[in-house]
Amino acid sequence: MVQSTHPMLSALWHNLSTCVLVLDKEFVIHYANNSSSELFGLGIKRLIGQPINDIFSHHHIDFERLSQYALNDGVDCQQHRVDVVFIDNRAATLNLHARRINHQQQTYILLECRRIDDEVRFDQASNQMHQYQAARTLIRGLAHEIKNPLGGIRGAAQLLQYESCQQERDQCAQLIIEQADRLTELVDRLLGPNQLPKKAPCNIHQTLESVIKLSMLDNASQITLLKDYDPSIPDIVIDQAKIQQVVLNIVRNAQQALESSGSITLTTRIKHRMRRGERLMKKALLVKITDDGPGIAEELKDTLFYPMITNKEGGSGLGLSIAQTIVEQHGGMIDCDSWPGHTEFNIYLPFDDDGTGSK
Ligand SMILES: Nc1ncnc2c1ncn2[C@@H]1O[C@H](COP(=O)(O)OP(=O)(O)OP(=O)(O)O)[C@@H](O)[C@H]1O
Ligand SMILES: [Mg+2]
Repeated sequence: MVQSTHPMLSALWHNLSTCVLVLDKEFVIHYANNSSSELFGLGIKRLIGQPINDIFSHHHIDFERLSQYALNDGVDCQQHRVDVVFIDNRAATLNLHARRINHQQQTYILLECRRIDDEVRFDQASNQMHQYQAARTLIRGLAHEIKNPLGGIRGAAQLLQYESCQQERDQCAQLIIEQADRLTELVDRLLGPNQLPKKAPCNIHQTLESVIKLSMLDNASQITLLKDYDPSIPDIVIDQAKIQQVVLNIVRNAQQALESSGSITLTTRIKHRMRRGERLMKKALLVKITDDGPGIAEELKDTLFYPMITNKEGGSGLGLSIAQTIVEQHGGMIDCDSWPGHTEFNIYLPFDDDGTGSK
């Protein structure tokens, strides 16, 4: 049996808000603190000596993985948002963290459980609210973008009806065509890239150099473009034109945010074992675009990559949404971290052959 001898330590363990259990190799409980007793609805004495399986009437805990990682490999094992039902039929969602510990020549698993029901509920409510707000913004943006050309088309058609001068009629027809094209372009941009990427091996630094040249064309201000490349990066199989479009979009955003002065840094690195949610990239190329501008407005952060999210006069708010679609088409990931004085966009592209990464 594992026992705490120091009274202060014992009080500390028992008063932790996290449930702490010590299990042996057969997953029998050897130690439980007060929080465990409260969570599982069983007294400490009843918990000790029980196989952990018996304190649930139903659960999604992956004990096999826990045993493989924590016991055999000796690496920490985490399981998030695991749904369980206790024997008194109460349901809960837990985060679990297991670690191997050795005590008196015996190997045990230290299992920490944290109940996260409130967090999950809060996340769901806040996600719903963000989705609702994003949908409203999208509809409002769309309505605005469609109404303008429609107004133009209607006006020109009315003129056309009564206009007898051929030159004026031609002008009206031309206006109608232009506005209809504007609407088509909007719809095309909204739908995103409609062709699958045409991938070929490419040198990422050449792509970035093209971005720098293009972005310098309309850079009359004091913005400095800095490079921090890893020259050892090998060629990567991507659709060069599309990835160039992604980086250019992000660099343009940074230029617009900086307005007249500041710096933008383009960084390239190789990253190993990149995990984002379910996706794991064994080897990835990181392209980081950093600027020292004012940062992303707080109210945009949660829905930044949604379409029509913009706070720019005349901005369509589609740049980042298109960028995300393209990166996803490459099996990659894009994220953003921003605070006043610092904004960084990280684009991860897999080197894996199939580009989808593996679990
Ligand atoms: N580097 C940055 N610094 C501060 N804010 C940024 C930065 N990059 C993006 N943003 C914010 O994110 C919003 C969305 O960017 P996105 O590129 O999707 O659309 P947009 O630039 O507004 O319009 P579009 O690119 O379609 O012309 C921007 O309006 C801006 O407020
Ligand atoms: Mg943009």
